[in-house]
Amino acid sequence: MTDERSWARAADRLGTAAARDGEPTRWFEELWSAAVRDEVDTPWPRTDPMPLVAQHLAALGPGEGRRAVVVGVGLGADAQATAAHGWATTAFDISPSAIRLVTARYPDSPVEFRVADLLDLPEDLRGAFDLVVEVFTVQAMPPVVRSEAGAGLRALLRPGGEMVAVQVIRPDGAPYPEEPPWPLDEAEMRALAGDDVRLVSLDRHASSDGQWPLWSAVLRRDA
Ligand SMILES: C[S@@+](CC[C@H](N)C(=O)[O-])C[C@H]1O[C@@H](n2cnc3c(N)ncnc32)[C@H](O)[C@@H]1O
Repeated sequence: MTDERSWARAADRLGTAAARDGEPTRWFEELWSAAVRDEVDTPWPRTDPMPLVAQHLAALGPGEGRRAVVVGVGLGADAQATAAHGWATTAFDISPSAIRLVTARYPDSPVEFRVADLLDLPEDLRGAFDLVVEVFTVQAMPPVVRSEAGAGLRALLRPGGEMVAVQVIRPDGAPYPEEPPWPLDEAEMRALAGDDVRLVSLDRHASSDGQWPLWSAVLRRDA
């Protein structure tokens, strides 16, 4: 891979500029549309579900048609896994180009893929879901919108609904990096709770195979 085609380098450059300009979510469509134009390699090209999500879906058992939403769907591996477990799955992304790519990747998917902004949710998504799946989306937005992002996640849950969130660990007291992602410390993970949504569990997963250490949080809205 040449530097020019590196999506990670493009993400660093575009994300840093967007944060500096006070437009925290501008860079996602910039990056995904560069991939559509074949100017950079495809970002976040994961084809398998995140193992922590797969484990959680297995533990929950069949969705039996209950409604799930995958936030910041990217290329869709977690959404496909969620639907395969029997959840009626909606998956959204702020980037129209990402939605174009994921729809092309899974043309026969039962998932409803759509454009939406976690920071400005459409009415029909509010309070609509028994399960919310969120992987690496909060940390991709600059910390200035962190509490808005948490409020958006909580707003998706219906009473009794559950959320699983996976983020990279930022050690307590460590400064934020200049470029994305901007990982979460323990206080930020705990602050995903609020508005009648309680933290059920918060676990640390050690780094393996050179991967970053991860948080997984499970939260539930009071019934
Ligand atoms: C780091 S990528 C992770 C993608 C996918 N969840 C994964 O793990 O492969 C973050 C994704 O969230 C999307 N995103 C960022 N901010 C968003 C927002 N405010 N609302 C919805 N999607 C957003 C980006 O376009 C991008 O696809």
